[in-house]
Amino acid sequence: KTERTCAMIKPDAFLNAGKIVNAIVRSNLRINQLRMCKLTQQEAAQFYAVHSERPFYPKLVDFMSSGPILAIEIVGEDAIAKWRSLLGPTNSETARAERPDSIRAKFGTDNTMNAAHGSDSDETATTELDFFFGSGRVGQCANLS
Ligand code: CMP
Repeated sequence: KTERTCAMIKPDAFLNAGKIVNAIVRSNLRINQLRMCKLTQQEAAQFYAVHSERPFYPKLVDFMSSGPILAIEIVGEDAIAKWRSLLGPTNSETARAERPDSIRAKFGTDNTMNAAHGSDSDETATTELDFFFGSGRVGQCANLS
């Protein structure tokens, strides 16, 4: 079915955003909306609230608020699974071993700095797209410090 998913190019891969956007387009997925912004610590904490009890949460929040990001609404047939397949395994080190052609293998560093995000379900996609593109959208202009 036609799905919408929320992709996010993380601060570690920001300078490779062009290549990642190219990979999306080449895979027969469409970009419907795209925004560059910078998340505050509070906003990053909100985006990843589901992980708040995990030991890596503080590090993740620091990382995600450390620089500009691109939020992207991707639309297409099986977009959620297709985008997650393009991303590869969560840990970029694992990705380099198992899926050397994947985005996380090529542009990420480790388990936290892993280049990009993708929604894991229709429900999460709706919440995440609303976070970046809804009327109460979040994230300050990335060009302002
Ligand atoms: P993402 O797909 O954006 O969803 C949650 C993020 O938390 C994940 O990518 C990683 O950046 C980070 N993460 C997930 N698991 C771990 C882990 N075991 N150790 C450190 N960071 C993690």
